[in-house]
Amino acid sequence: MAATKGGLFHRDLGKEYPVIVRGEGIYMIDEEGRRYIDGIAGAGNVTLGHGQARIARAMGEQAQTLAYCFSAFFTNRPALELAPRVAELAPGDLNSCYFVSGGSEAVETAFKLARQYHLQQGRSQKYKIISRWRGYHGATLGAMAASGLPPQRNPFVPLLPEFPHIAACHPYRCEFAGCEGRCNLTCARALETAILQAGPENVAAFVAEPVVMAGAAVAVPPPGYFEEIRAICDRYDVLWIADEIITGFGRTGRYFASEYWDAVPDMICFGKAASSGYVPLGGVVFSDRIRQSFVDAGDSFAHVFTYVNNPVAMRVCATVLDIIEEEKVIAHVAETGTYLAERAQLLNAHACVGDVRTKGLMMGIELVRDKETKAPFDPALGASARGAALALERGLSISGVAGVADWVRGDDLRFYPPLIITREQIDEAVAIIDAVLGELDQLA
Ligand SMILES: Cc1ncc(COP(=O)(O)O)c(C=O)c1O
Repeated sequence: MAATKGGLFHRDLGKEYPVIVRGEGIYMIDEEGRRYIDGIAGAGNVTLGHGQARIARAMGEQAQTLAYCFSAFFTNRPALELAPRVAELAPGDLNSCYFVSGGSEAVETAFKLARQYHLQQGRSQKYKIISRWRGYHGATLGAMAASGLPPQRNPFVPLLPEFPHIAACHPYRCEFAGCEGRCNLTCARALETAILQAGPENVAAFVAEPVVMAGAAVAVPPPGYFEEIRAICDRYDVLWIADEIITGFGRTGRYFASEYWDAVPDMICFGKAASSGYVPLGGVVFSDRIRQSFVDAGDSFAHVFTYVNNPVAMRVCATVLDIIEEEKVIAHVAETGTYLAERAQLLNAHACVGDVRTKGLMMGIELVRDKETKAPFDPALGASARGAALALERGLSISGVAGVADWVRGDDLRFYPPLIITREQIDEAVAIIDAVLGELDQLA
């Protein structure tokens, strides 16, 4: 075996990816000078676009003034100023923040907050986290245990705590009879059954994404779903954690997607857009009752990461919020999101399109062999990978995911661009997707 130095990059596995050297707004430029529309915002991160000089300046200034201070012994002004600002944007009484350095860490943080809260409340048996199939909560072991994507979980199952999963709310491929086309919330009520099966005395929390992305492109529960979840959680002293790592900070046209339901979670996890991808950042914003429990117990949170409250990350997030406010980015997403939804409907005319779903600036296109029966393509055709490759050839980066019907069969394409995208740029991207679907029609 030839010795190689460098790492385990995709090219080491025989896959050639473009080497991106520069970014400008919604575009990325590779070392051969080719331009691509970043149609997945670097997978949900670069929401304010590439090359934001204002964010880069804030990072540089903060790094020169104070790049780091250890959060277990000190605090810093940028963190003290940012926490109430994020809390102000969060719904209900979610008034306290804990900042870490990514989405998976945020989810782990929420799980441990839930556990420590229940211990303080004298409910020492409560430790189980209930989650949903099709959910994605991160790559670390606790977050992966809660995730419901078998291809990602299965290799690591021996390392994962055995927590219960219920079906996600996914109207297009609903697992419950009697729900065809119109959700009757059986999927929400399944949470109560799962809690009773696990023993309510053992269940600490329920975690779910308000809008599923990784496990089913843009699966949006109907009105009533999270209201039902809230009621069930309250009945059994179970904390509800909303994973808004992909939806938080504007993606759906509100600061947090949870605002679309008339129910407030106990915690919201955020990441990605909080720094627009400029530095690693995630966090949890949690309710007054959780905060009060720590205060009453005089208990510090048994949870220290090196990059908690990192001053540079705090400054980046503050600058991201300045830009969102000054450039009215949330209103822009609401407006362009409505435009995207209209344009997306045109794609339904393709023979290979089973369903097109949007929420704000997220779009998922489910590819099928047969529209009527929703029968997926033969996985050997690689329809989703082919779709993503055809789009890239035309200058648009989108993601194509396989296995979305039953973990083996099923394909979709996903488009979730930077939030600063204009109507004209949406037209440009949708025209490319339309052409790609025209080619995939040949497979149907
Ligand atoms: C909903 C959701 N939760 C958690 C994560 C994990 O975040 P990270 O990759 O920053 O650890 C992701 C990442 O895609 C996500 O989309």
